[in-house]
Amino acid sequence: MDTSNPTPPPPADSGSAPATAPTIVPKDMKTRLKASYDAIAPAYNEWASYNHRLRLRYLDRVLDFLVSTRMQTQTTDPTTIGTGTGTGTGTETGTKLKALEIGCGAGVPIVSALLSSPRGMRFHVVGNDLSGGQIGIARGRFGGGVFTGGGGGDPSDGDNYSLVNEEGDGKGDGNGDDSGKDSKSTVEWAQADMLTLSFPPSSLDLVIGLYSVIHLPREEQVAMMRKIAGWLKPGGLVLVNFGAEEAEAVEMADWLGGWMFWSSFGAEGMLERVEKVEGLEVLSSEVVGEDGVDAAFLWVIARKV
Ligand SMILES: C[S@@+](CC[C@H](N)C(=O)[O-])C[C@H]1O[C@@H](n2cnc3c(N)ncnc32)[C@H](O)[C@@H]1O
Repeated sequence: MDTSNPTPPPPADSGSAPATAPTIVPKDMKTRLKASYDAIAPAYNEWASYNHRLRLRYLDRVLDFLVSTRMQTQTTDPTTIGTGTGTGTGTETGTKLKALEIGCGAGVPIVSALLSSPRGMRFHVVGNDLSGGQIGIARGRFGGGVFTGGGGGDPSDGDNYSLVNEEGDGKGDGNGDDSGKDSKSTVEWAQADMLTLSFPPSSLDLVIGLYSVIHLPREEQVAMMRKIAGWLKPGGLVLVNFGAEEAEAVEMADWLGGWMFWSSFGAEGMLERVEKVEGLEVLSSEVVGEDGVDAAFLWVIARKV
C-alpha cells in the first residue's frame, strides 16, 4: 500500500500534487486545514458520495450494538444508557439519545441518517466541524441552531449539557432544543476543533467520527479517544475510522483543490492505543480498503464499560 495516501485520493483529473512527508506537524496546520475545507467543501461533498454506502453500513452496525446494549441494560437498570422505559429501543422513551458527530462535514450521510430516527430511535445530534463552510452547507440543508458548548450544568448529571437556540435565549425553539420531548430527532451545530469540544462526563450515547480524526496529529487522535471515553455514558458507543498506514505527518499541496494534512499510527499502532484507553472496550475492528482507490482505513467500534 502506498503510505502517501492515507485517505482516498481525488479523481485523476483534479490536479492533485504528490504527497510529501514532513517529519513535523506544521504549526498552522488547523488554520490551513479549515481554510482548505471552506474552499473545497462543495467539491469534497460531491466526490465523497462515492462511498456513502460504506459509512451507512458501519452506522447500521453501531446502531445494532446500541439497540442490543439498550435492551440488555434496560431489563436490569434502565438508567445506565438513555433514560427510557418501554421496549428499550428508544421508540417509547421520553428522552432522545444524544449523539455527536465529529468532523461531520455537510452532515451527509451520518447526521442525515440520525435525523431520520433510524429503528424508531430519536436522537438529539450535535454536528461538529472545523470548517464554517461545511457547517454552513449542513445548516442550510438540515436547519438547527448553534451548539454553545457542553460546559454548563452539573457534571454529574449527564442530561444537563447546555444548549441554546439560534437566538441564544436558552429556551429552545422546537428544532434545536434539548428538552427531549419533541417527536422528531433534532440537531445543533458546533463549528470548532473537535479537540476543544466539551461535554459533561457520561452524557452521550453515541459518538461518530469518519475520515475526520485522521486530520488530527496522531497524538491528538489518542487524546480525542480519551475525551470520547469520558463523554460516553456506560453502554454508549463510538464509531471512528483511522488511517491504516503509519505516517506521522503527510501533506498534500493540492487535494481536490486544497492543501491537506493527515497523520496515523497505522492500524496496529492505533488499535493498540484505543484498546488501552480507559473505559473503552473494542467490540469490532477491521481494516477496509476503499473501493477503487489505493487506500485503507481501520474502522473501530468501541463501547464505554
Ligand atoms: C474528509 S472530511 C469527512 C467529512 C465526513 N465525516 C464524511 O464522512 O464525509 C473531514 C472533515 O473533518 C473536518 N475536520 C478536520 N479537522 C478537524 C478538527 N480538528 N475538528 C473538527 N473537524 C475537523 C473537516 O473540516 C472536514 O469537513
